[in-house]
Amino acid sequence: MDATQGQSFDAVVERATMTLQRRLQGRPIDWALICGSGFGKGLMQGDGGLGLAVEETIALAELGMPTPGVAGHGKALVIGTIGARRVVVQTGRIHPYEGHSVQVCTAALAAALACGARGVALTCAAGGLSPVLVPGDVVLIKDQIGLLGPTPLIGPRFVGCGALYEPRLRARAQAIAAEAGLGAMREAVYVHCRGPQYETPAETEALRRLGGDIVGMSTTYEALLAVAEGAVVAGVAVVTNVAGIVGLSHAEVEERSDAARPRVARLLAALLAEDPTAS
Ligand code: HPA
Repeated sequence: MDATQGQSFDAVVERATMTLQRRLQGRPIDWALICGSGFGKGLMQGDGGLGLAVEETIALAELGMPTPGVAGHGKALVIGTIGARRVVVQTGRIHPYEGHSVQVCTAALAAALACGARGVALTCAAGGLSPVLVPGDVVLIKDQIGLLGPTPLIGPRFVGCGALYEPRLRARAQAIAAEAGLGAMREAVYVHCRGPQYETPAETEALRRLGGDIVGMSTTYEALLAVAEGAVVAGVAVVTNVAGIVGLSHAEVEERSDAARPRVARLLAALLAEDPTAS
């Protein structure tokens, strides 16, 4: 049983929004950040973290949401500031493969958007499809293939997806990486696969031929919701493994993700300190 059983999708989003609104007490939000595998706890730490000045912590359960069941995922929505910007951080993700609808999985993001977030930063672990990517690489998502995955949009919401991952944010992230001595980051097309099983070699090859550079089990549907609600989106992925290999484990994914965390934190701390929609 989860906290959302018996409630309509709208009711889950409405409860999450009302709870967040009450805890914000009128304070504006600039950004929503979703932490992928292995990032939740680490990004909140003082050292090697985002440097978020925490104002409030709300358990996802208090928002009426299920608790992420996957190791390496936090269980809260944290409100805080980075410089002049207020950020709502979801410290752990809920995935469709855990048995929840995509509307339930995105309820906290929907709440942050309803409370005024104009920028959304998505982080995730992913398997590498492109032969130029190696485990440990931190890449910017430049586009996605969500054809095989779920969408949180219901009804005639014909959202343009010509620039899902805002080019200005990508350029800003590249400039930040160069300044921080992280070097030029590769930009990648993210393909969604539902999981929880990893891909077979045949599936991996098929995804490569479709045009994917990296593969993961989240992210695409969050980007769709954010853009549908008028926000700009940045996506940062850590390549934790070569996709489709023999002997892949979640522990390995978590380990690689954790090792990349300081680089991801430096990048995000600088990106989220800026106005998401400044030109
Ligand atoms: N496939 C799908 N999702 C993933 C992978 C992968 O190889 N690695 C991390 N998340």
